[in-house]
Amino acid sequence: MIAKTKIKVLLKTPEVVGIGNDVKVEGWVRTKRGNKNIAFIALNDGSIIHSIQIVAEVANFDEEILKQITTGSCICVEGTLVNSQGQGQSVEIQAKKIEVYGTADAEIYPLQKKGHTLEFLREIAHLRPRTNTFGAILRLRHAMAFAIHKFFNDKGFYYLHAPIITGSDCEGAGSMFRVTTLDAVNPPKNSDGTVNYNEDFFGKQTNLTVSGQLEGELAALAIGEIYTFGPTFRAENSNTPRHLAEFWMIEPEMAFYDITDNMDLAEEMLKYLMNYAIENCYDDLEFLQKTYDSELIERIKSIINNKFERLTYTEAIDILEKSGQKFEFPVSWGCDLQAEHERFLVEKYFQKPVILTNYPKEIKAFYMKQNDDGKTVRAMDVLFPRIGEIIGGSQREENFDKLSKRIEELNLPAKDLWWYLETRKFGTAPHSGFGLGFERLILFVTGMANIRDVIPFPRTPKNAEF
Ligand code: 4AD
Ligand code: MG
Repeated sequence: MIAKTKIKVLLKTPEVVGIGNDVKVEGWVRTKRGNKNIAFIALNDGSIIHSIQIVAEVANFDEEILKQITTGSCICVEGTLVNSQGQGQSVEIQAKKIEVYGTADAEIYPLQKKGHTLEFLREIAHLRPRTNTFGAILRLRHAMAFAIHKFFNDKGFYYLHAPIITGSDCEGAGSMFRVTTLDAVNPPKNSDGTVNYNEDFFGKQTNLTVSGQLEGELAALAIGEIYTFGPTFRAENSNTPRHLAEFWMIEPEMAFYDITDNMDLAEEMLKYLMNYAIENCYDDLEFLQKTYDSELIERIKSIINNKFERLTYTEAIDILEKSGQKFEFPVSWGCDLQAEHERFLVEKYFQKPVILTNYPKEIKAFYMKQNDDGKTVRAMDVLFPRIGEIIGGSQREENFDKLSKRIEELNLPAKDLWWYLETRKFGTAPHSGFGLGFERLILFVTGMANIRDVIPFPRTPKNAEF
């Protein structure tokens, strides 16, 4: 019996198997061409962007079997690994035996032809992993997730599993998905007509989390440096190329870090991830660059090679006001920055990533550390070319009285946050953290333009088919 081999091993390190030796590969047919004497099959198994060429002499095979081998079919091939005569590949397989696992009727297989639009591929999200594009994206997603865990593990951070179902609304944003087992038509009611959540599964109102931060803080204030990496949910009706209703977020939270330590960590991490992609995913990056974005690799390298520009929100507003640039949303101190403002700063003005700090407290969350000016908080947003905000974070308010007062001012339900406040009552400590949107990272590193194309099964308003 011949041992199975991944196509990546054959193409990258053929010496492992050895030219002239027999191999066995399994995969999906990308193309088949040839003539009445010989067939050339491009076979891909997902281990690498490239396909291996299978050469089959027609006379050696049952005609019926060869007919079944069409684009999209799945086959197993045994044959001899040989040096390739053709251009573009170093080795190929001279087939001795082919088994068809699954046919793909050429009349109806949706990916029969090349060059589908990304919009069309979204409609067949169940099959788009079969394309070279989505193979590359899925491999990059894996590599980035792995690199994130490696980065933090090597630094001595602990991976914290924050809950997905939560009884509190962390950001005070209100745009959450409710989790309930109550009857949708006839829920139990209180005497005043409101729904009686005491009867609900958890005995209270619960939602899908928008962030693991608050739970992350509990752990950081006990074991030092942690990060979460999980799905988060936002029921905002934002139909933009940068928003998902379900996205993955990485949230490190560190005791004894101030805002500068926090910025240093964010910058180091993003550079580490860019470097990891270049070192480990070059074939996929080259493919994406060739197909979608001619400046991709250069842009990734520019993150590694540039020190991020750090300035305050107030300084940024000043630059934007004096820029003479026409914006759709006008700028003045106190306004929330829009993607167009962020991208002007990053792409036009500084031409490198930017970290903005000290935002007005009115546009940021309750938990951010208040500055002495009484107007701003120690927030930080990292802004990237093409993306805008890729990271949002802050130093946290560790003072019990100040935090309680802010919760009161904002009319937040203090009774749901008692456990959070207790960390400030018992052994409070200066601490900081941030959230990196995983899909925004993947958007950047793949050069894709729409966030729906960098997650296997996008969840957006009116879309949860696959
Ligand atoms: O700025 P955000 O809302 O911050 C938080 O949730 C904090 N709790 C993070 C923290 O300090 N631990 O979200 C953080 C990041 C954003 O910078 C963005 O990259 C991403 O999450 N993000 C989204 N990505 C995709 N779709 C959405 N709807 C997103 N909303 C935020
Ligand atoms: Mg934000």
